[in-house]
This record gives sequence, C-alpha cells and structure tokens, in this order.
Amino acid sequence: MKFTKEIILEALKRIVDPETNKDLVSSELIKNIIITEDKVDIVVELKKANSPIKNSLERVIKEVINTVVSKNLTVKVNILAPQTAQKPIKVQETAKADKMKNIILIASGKGGVGKSTVATNLSIAVSQLGYKVGLLDADIFGPSLPKMFKVENVKPLVKKMDSKDVIIPVEKYGVKMLSIGFFVESETALIWRAPMATNALMQLINDADWDDVDFLFIDLPPGTSDIQLTLVQNLEITGAVIVTTPQQVALVDAKKAIDMFANPKLKVPLLGIVENMSWFTPAELPNNKYFIFGKGGAEELVKKYNTSLLAQIPLVQSICESGDDGLPSVLNNQTIEGASFKLLAENMLKQLSIKI
Ligand SMILES: Nc1ncnc2c1ncn2[C@@H]1O[C@H](COP(=O)(O)OP(=O)(O)O)[C@@H](O)[C@H]1O
Ligand SMILES: [Mg+2]
Repeated sequence: MKFTKEIILEALKRIVDPETNKDLVSSELIKNIIITEDKVDIVVELKKANSPIKNSLERVIKEVINTVVSKNLTVKVNILAPQTAQKPIKVQETAKADKMKNIILIASGKGGVGKSTVATNLSIAVSQLGYKVGLLDADIFGPSLPKMFKVENVKPLVKKMDSKDVIIPVEKYGVKMLSIGFFVESETALIWRAPMATNALMQLINDADWDDVDFLFIDLPPGTSDIQLTLVQNLEITGAVIVTTPQQVALVDAKKAIDMFANPKLKVPLLGIVENMSWFTPAELPNNKYFIFGKGGAEELVKKYNTSLLAQIPLVQSICESGDDGLPSVLNNQTIEGASFKLLAENMLKQLSIKI
C-alpha cells in the first residue's frame, strides 16, 4: 500500500489537543510529514514548552497511525519546542461557565468509594502537568474538599466585576477550589430540595471567577439524583469519570451511574473508570497486594461499556491519612499511591485526546 500525506493527516485529525480543543491538524501543530516507503516521520511543534501532552503525544500519534493507517508503518515523532513566545496572560472580564474549556464530572454510584479523594488528587495532578485547573465540590450532602485541601476555616472572598458580585475560589496546590461546604452547613443542605441545591451549585459555577480554567472538575454527590441530571442539562460536559471500588455492591451502583450518563437525552461521554481500593498494600510490605474486596470487577465494567480503566488505586493507610491531614497523596509522587494518581491524570488526558 502507498501511504500519502493526506492519509496520515486524516489520521492525525483524530487526535485532539486538549489545550485548544481542536485536532492536531487544525491547531497547526503538525509542521512536517515525511514518508519513505514504510516509514513516516512526523514533526510536531508544541504551543507551550511545558505542554502536558508532551510526554504522551508521541505514544498517542504512534498508536493512532498504527491503528488507523497501518500497523506496518514505522512511525517516528519529532517534537519541537515552541518557537513563539508564551501567550500573554489574558485579563478575565466576566466569569462564565462557557469560558471553561473542559468540564469533567467525577461521579460514583455509591458514597465512600473515594470520589473526593480521586477528585482532589486528579485535579492537582492535572495542574502539575501545566493546566489551569478548577475544582468544585458539589457534594451537598457531604462536602469533604475543604478538609482534603486543609482550608476548612477559609471563607472565599467576593469581589465586584462589572458591578456584579463574583466569588473568588480558594487557591491551593495549584488548584482553584470552591465547595458548597464553604457556604452552607451540611445539616441545612440536607433538607434542601433538588432545585435549591442545583441553583446554589450553578451559582458557584457561573458567579465565580474561575479565570478561564482549562479544566473544571466537579466532585458530584453519589448516586443518580435530580442534582446530577440538572447539572448535566445546564452545562456542556466534556465527560465523566466513574469511581468505584471492587465490591459487587459498588459495581452495581456504578453501572446505574454509567447508564444515567449514557442516556440518549444526556449523552455525557464516559472517559473511563477509576477502580479505587483495588487491593490492600501494607506500608511495611509495599510489594504485597491483598485483594480484600475482590478482583476484576472494574475490568468487567470496562469490557461491558467498552471504556477504559483509567487507574487502579491501592488501599493504603497513607491515602486516608493524607486526606484527613489535607496533604493529598499526589504531592509526593515517589510513593506508589502518588504515582498512581499521576498516571490517572495522564490516562485521562490521553482519553480526551483520542476521540476515534
Ligand atoms: N485508596 C484509598 N486508601 C485508603 N483510604 C482511602 C482510599 N480512598 C479513599 N480513602 C478514604 O476513604 C474515605 C472516603 O473517601 P472519599 O474520597 O471521601 O469518598 P467519597 O467522596 O466517594 O464519599 C476517606 O476517609 C478517604 O480518605
Ligand atoms: Mg465525597
């Protein structure tokens, strides 16, 4: 078979640059394609020197070309640093959800499976990769992000912008964060009806100065209530990450959450599944894995829904302790758990860039 530049370009159009939300070809990142028999050299120029896709791009390009064009093609990818100066920082005038590039839901069927732990560590990991990240704690029944970020006593400030009151998110570990817990006691929130809760949440999204973040992660309440439905109907959601533990009871509920997002009226893309507490590893025996909640449950879900397993996070005492202490595990990626959250971020970004 003869390979042409056009065929390669068509394949590269399937890869999306999460920064511009456009494919690699339209975002003009492809600088050259040289084809010699069964070899192709692709030259890519990044827009940012520390572009977070730098490390995964080569692998993604190879995978896509070998899957879509031919597995016999030898692909070489040369990634160039950007030629142009960094873009000046834009002045944010109004705060609006439509300015956010990607809104990603962190959802689960059940409570206590580690949704907030995953939301916290994932958002910090994505910010460490160079993105502007926001995180909204939308769990009105049990907001836990203020504790996980150790900002329980902080009261977010309000400023005037275009003669409108705008809430300033709390900034910590590189993430702009707001929690419903900053504004209402959970006992009060518990008796709210769904429209009240969603109004409050929409206000935190639309009336806060999220400063044009690349990603807004939303830590949802567990389950499939009206709150999830209304948020999904009112916002343009990029995708959902489902968190589950390996037990059958958690998996059954995870399926319900997946089915809700897949409903033709909602059509929220499923980015993948995070299996939390996959196995227990004692600190003194870091190589041992005890599958105390069962094994292979999330893999079953992944097969059933044709999605990807974004990460398996071990059950380790330090994750719980660091959650309680407000020092998220990902801050130390020398540890197994820190590294697993970093891998989760990379896999999620990869999932966003391949839309085949
Ligand atoms: N992998 C893990 N290893 C140890 N403890 C964990 C792990 N994941 C979560 N936890 C702990 O379990 C509890 C529930 O987690 P959380 O993230 O609050 O769940 P959810 O938001 O789904 O209700 C927290 O105390 C948290 O620190
Ligand atoms: Mg939670």
